[in-house]
Parts: sequence; C-alpha cells; structure tokens
Amino acid sequence: MEWSRKQRYRRIEESKPSEMITLKEKIDSCPWRQHFHIQPETGLLNDPNGFSYFNGEYHLFYQWFPLGPVHGLKYWYHTKSKDLVHWENVGVGIEPDKYYESHGAFSGSAIEYEGKLYLMYTGNTRDEKWIRHPYQCLAVMDKEGNTEKLPHPVISHVPEGYTDHFRDPKVWKKGDFFYAIIGAQRDDETGCVVLYRSQNLKTWDFEGEMEVHKSLQEFGFMWECPDYFELDGKGVLIFSPQGIQSEEDRYQNIYQSGYVLGDPMKYEPPVFQDGNFIELDRGFDFYAPQSMLSPDGRRLLIGWMGLPEIEYPTDQNGWAHCLTLPRELTVNNNKLIQKPAKELQALRKAKSEIEDILENEVKTYSGFEGETYELICQFEKGSADEFGVFLRVGENEQTVVKYDAGGKKVIFDRSHSGEQVGESYGTVRKCLLHEEKITFQIFVDSSSVEIFVNDGEEVFTGRIFPKTESRGIAFFANDGSVKVNAAKWTYN
Ligand code: FRU
Repeated sequence: MEWSRKQRYRRIEESKPSEMITLKEKIDSCPWRQHFHIQPETGLLNDPNGFSYFNGEYHLFYQWFPLGPVHGLKYWYHTKSKDLVHWENVGVGIEPDKYYESHGAFSGSAIEYEGKLYLMYTGNTRDEKWIRHPYQCLAVMDKEGNTEKLPHPVISHVPEGYTDHFRDPKVWKKGDFFYAIIGAQRDDETGCVVLYRSQNLKTWDFEGEMEVHKSLQEFGFMWECPDYFELDGKGVLIFSPQGIQSEEDRYQNIYQSGYVLGDPMKYEPPVFQDGNFIELDRGFDFYAPQSMLSPDGRRLLIGWMGLPEIEYPTDQNGWAHCLTLPRELTVNNNKLIQKPAKELQALRKAKSEIEDILENEVKTYSGFEGETYELICQFEKGSADEFGVFLRVGENEQTVVKYDAGGKKVIFDRSHSGEQVGESYGTVRKCLLHEEKITFQIFVDSSSVEIFVNDGEEVFTGRIFPKTESRGIAFFANDGSVKVNAAKWTYN
C-alpha cells in the first residue's frame, strides 16, 4: 500500500474504527510477533526515548506511528517495568498536539528533577513548503503519570551555522548544571553535535559545537540521537551518523550507530578529542540507541532493532520493528563491553545441556530446538576451519552463527533465514576476533537474534523472518574438530 502524506500525518482519532479493527486483525495473524521484546501493538516503532528510572520503576518510551508500518506522525509511546524484563504498556506518553510539534514528537530523553520526570524532545514541524522547523520541547510527568507540556518550546531557534536537521536532545546533570547534547547538521551538510547548558531545564544557553577529532569532522551528513556519559573514568560519545561509506566488514548497514571513547569531555567550550569511531553492533538491525544509569549505578543501553528506509516483512501485517534487549556497558582496554542485563535471567525456564567433540559434522541434540530461547555455546578451538551453530533450522531455512578460524572472523549469515529483508545491503555480517575460545550467548525470539560474543566483546543483532515450524538447532565443525559445550533455556 502506498501511503500519501495526508494518510501518514493523521492522528489516532482521525482513523476510522474499522481501520483499527482491520489493522489489529492483520497484526494478530502475524507469525513474527515477538515474545520477549518491546514491540508496538499497532503501527511502527523506532527510537527508544526517555529511558530512565523514576518513582521506583524503569520508564522507556519509543517513537511510534500507530496507524501503520510507516514513518508518519510520531507519538511517544510509554512502557514501564519494575525489573527491566517484564514491560507494561502504559499508553501514549507524548501526543503531538501543540503548534511546535505539528509533524511529530520526535526523539528525546528524560531526567528526574524536583520529584518529576522531565521529558526533553524535538518538536517537528513543517511549513506550507514542507520545510522543517525543529523545536526542543519539554513535557513534565508527575508520579501519577500525568504529563503537562510547557506552552512554548525551551529552544526555539537553530543556532546560526546549522540546518533544520537539529534534533534528539539527550540530557544529563553535572555539578549544578543540566546539559543537553543535540544531533545536528552544519550548513555545509556535515554531521556534528552541539551542547546546551541550563540550571532549571527551562532556559538553555548554547555552549557551542562539540569540537571533535579531525577524523570525525567530516564524518557523514547528519549525526542522529547522540548520547554522552562517563563510565569507568572515560568519556563515551554515542551517535548514529548517516552517510558513512562501507569499509571492509564495517559500516554495512544503511546508517551506522557507534561510539567514541576517550578522556572525558572538556565542558567550556565542549571538546572531545578521541577519533576512533567503533560500531556498537556488528549485525543488521540496530540504530539510535539510548543509555541510562540504573539505580545501582550500571550504564544500560537499548537500541531500535531496525533501520530507517528499509521495508520489513511485517509491513504486510500492519506493524514494524521492536527494541533490543537491555545491555549493560563497561569499559575494558579502551573498548566498550556490552553484556545482556543480568535481569534477563529471570526469563530462563527449562534447561538443556550438552558437551561434545564435533568432528567434521553437523549434530543435533535432544532438547535443543525452539522458537524463543537463550543459548550459550562455548567452542574450544581445535583443528576445524570453521565451527558454529545453525538456528531456526527448517526446510530450506537456517540462520548461521559461526567462527572462521582461518580468517579469525565471527560470521552472522541470514541469507537462508526465511523471508529476506534489506538484501541490497548484504545478507552476511562479519567482524574480526582473535581468540582461542569462542562463546556465543544468543537470544532468539520469534523474529530476531541477538548474539553476544565472548562476554560482550562484540554484539550482532538481526531480525529474521523464518517459518514458525523452523525450530531446529544444530552444531557443526568443518574440516577438523572442535570441542563444544552448550546450555539452552526455553523462554516460553
Ligand atoms: C532516528 C530519527 C531521529 C528522529 C526520529 C523521528 O531514527 O530519525 O533523528 O528524532 O527518528 O522518528
């Protein structure tokens, strides 16, 4: 179905009840609804927003267009959780109903202040000529969950030198001040981030563009969804640059998402000097992540498990995308380590275990199959050229996670995973890893795979669209032997 501009920019109450019924029916008959990931009840989800802990609960909002699987008029949808695992759908968090958000309540973040949760976000507007005018706005949620917006934006103008691509404020507090980092595009159409400072979240001063390493000064045409925090004595700048050319195994997706780690940012003026941009995820579907600090001091990160401008098989079923599982970040050897949040262990049910030596063969084991599960497999390198595991195996279908010992690469191959998605960007993702022992911790849901390699050294995330009956798991070694031990927990 082609969506006209008029159809995309409709509000929920402008849809006919029959339209919503048809949409819900399509979604209910979809074989790819997830079981333990946050997904929209209808329509399209994109960026995680306002990830925070407030009044004894985690709050997580996301970008949402309710009426179909397209990027239309964006709302914030609100979910909350006591344990980071079981999320309750609360309802609309921010409705785009003010003049400063006529074309969507775009991405932003949350911070607690004076007993309330302040949501700072971008109000997207378009004029008659369809020219964008972005505003940075504030909505304040009390402990009862009532949200009130300020009558006017808190930042109404784009500073000189930048275009109307100016959005996605991420707020934090340092000392007596609040800071907001905003994704921007310079007049010469290169991407960057800028910093604002405030004492009360309502009036903001422009502190300037963040000065970055020269290798990042011309790095794509727009930096979306920036984030900045300090972790284990280092500064970490996260952003999602658009317009980066692929290089060897890197930057294979339409848009990227990664971090730069270095000495903490100097604030006045803002300077962050490290230049080594590293992708957060080596897989296919990961974008616009956002972090928060948990009450026990852990830095947690959640991303959008999807990408802009790509069609997904669930579009036919009236919905699109989900969020990733929460990851805990730490720093080791100047690198971010990303582990699945330990709370996820609450999902573990029946356990199966094996230990074996594979000799140039493909092997299956009882208890090792399923549609939704966690699997940890540890391989000790022997003589095999290649070893790994096939997931969601069925007739002519399999998803491959393997290690190429000669090339020293981890490989995630979804070329035979079922219905294809974003094929023009390739169906295989790889990254170098020099290790003797390889561990894959894999979370499989009805239509996704998240692979944490060697305790969070690397992560590969991807949507897959197999048949429901494709439930097999098989371990394999090619051209030699490998020792494997594996544990699997069913998740349903
Ligand atoms: C990133 C993004 C943000 C914007 C939002 C709109 O995916 O383009 O820059 O705020 O999505 O939904």
